[in-house]
Amino acid sequence: MSDIAFAEQTPADVQADVVAVFATKGENRTSVPGADAVAVGERLEIDISAVLSGVRFDGDLAAVARIPTQGKIAASLVLVVGLGPAEKLTLETLRRGAGAAARNATKDATLAVVVPGDLPSEAPPADRAQTVTEGAGLGSYAFTTYRSKPTELPSLTAVKIVAGNGLSADDIRGGVDRGATVVRATRLARDLVNTPPADKRPPVLAEKAVAVGEAAGLRVRVLDEQALEDGGFGGILGVGRGSSAPPRLVELTYEPDGAGSHVVLVGKGITFDSGGLSLKPPNAMSTMKMDMAGAATVLGAMSVLGDLGVTVKVTGLLALAENMPSGHATRVSDVLTHRGGKTVEVMNTDAEGRLVLGDALAYATEAQPDAIIDLATLTGAQIVALGNRIAGVMGNNDDLIEEIKSAAAAAGEQVWQLPLPDEYEDHLRSEVADFKNIGKPMQAGTIIGGLYLQKFVGEVPWAHVDIAGPAFTEEGDSWYTPKGGTGMGVRTLLALLTARSGG
Ligand code: BES
Ligand code: MN
Ligand code: ZN
Repeated sequence: MSDIAFAEQTPADVQADVVAVFATKGENRTSVPGADAVAVGERLEIDISAVLSGVRFDGDLAAVARIPTQGKIAASLVLVVGLGPAEKLTLETLRRGAGAAARNATKDATLAVVVPGDLPSEAPPADRAQTVTEGAGLGSYAFTTYRSKPTELPSLTAVKIVAGNGLSADDIRGGVDRGATVVRATRLARDLVNTPPADKRPPVLAEKAVAVGEAAGLRVRVLDEQALEDGGFGGILGVGRGSSAPPRLVELTYEPDGAGSHVVLVGKGITFDSGGLSLKPPNAMSTMKMDMAGAATVLGAMSVLGDLGVTVKVTGLLALAENMPSGHATRVSDVLTHRGGKTVEVMNTDAEGRLVLGDALAYATEAQPDAIIDLATLTGAQIVALGNRIAGVMGNNDDLIEEIKSAAAAAGEQVWQLPLPDEYEDHLRSEVADFKNIGKPMQAGTIIGGLYLQKFVGEVPWAHVDIAGPAFTEEGDSWYTPKGGTGMGVRTLLALLTARSGG
């Protein structure tokens, strides 16, 4: 996987095989080269606009023109990457364009991407730099651990980020560093999601979290099956019971000196969701190694809090279990007792996320933090409602939800709020226990999941982010999200915690 770093060189002098600059879309199928494309054109002694229209490059988002340099600058190839129409240009389109640059430089050993001196003009250069770094770093992601031979996938060995026209090194260095840190956190989350389920069963994933946490200077505690038994975590134990690999609850603590507030992040960590005895059909099971994406997102974000200078206390809870059918598995209509004493009649063992999260949220609430945010691939209904680019967010506190919405907008991730109406509470009524774990068929499945979780948080400000769709993509895009785990939520969490830290 490529290293990504700031380089104190000009676009013309940078030591790289390929250098990427940007253009916007113009009128009549032409492009408008940005200031850096114009400057590079001058060094190449060509009329860049004429060359671009000659190769029918129109500046559409992620369109790419390849221009040989014939030895006139250090790089042998210039990529001019389209950003779409100037009036629609945002930091997110710049992130997508930078991703497209990385995707189109496959098979080329090193790539330099130029932080635009002029695009988008209203964005501070440091933000442009962070965005370009994120796009290039995420676009060059490839999961190759399990390949026996090199593949055609992106094989960049290094990505350099350089300052464009009119920008100094100091304008962009900090932004590049922040972007590279965000990339590292997101790549970790993607790697964990993409890992085959046999290689990340709960005890193994917990050990990985210990290693990551310790390397990041966090306190880490792992509750094994005995500790879960002693602590009354009946939901996690009930889900994990069918598997030959026992469940775990991992607690990671980041506590900087003088921390003012305390945020708890909770991640659903089902390392494989077969459905349990309420077995999923084969097609629905094919992507279910991704059902620990919430935990992967939390661990990814926790791994860089110190590097980003976060000043709030953050606890991460990873609720890890493998949902399998067996002679030991929880039966349909069995009753489990959650942490804190609430009882649930399990009417569908495939609604297991809420069972592990109920325990983790009850435990989180005991610390009386200032906010709890959980991330979970909780419901197929989330995909029906919002598709695979937009997460559902719901909760008991409008300020916290607004905070998540603005962090997501700033980070280039999409969330949409759903309500948690009291009127639907009766869907979860049980004849036997305090409640059951499913509602009515075809009715508000994502909301019902949220209502279930809400029972465990009391008065503590809490938000639930259902990332079932956006956590994993079977299609991928041509920007910065290849097929597989996406790392959805890492950027939003980091933006939120950085904002809470006052910058
Ligand atoms: N992990 C699934 C949800 C899911 C589905 C995530 C597809 C990503 C893609 C979850 O555990 C589940 O099975 N939910 C059930 C709940 C139902 C039984 C109430 C669902 O959505 O069908
Ligand atoms: Mn399930
Ligand atoms: Zn699940």
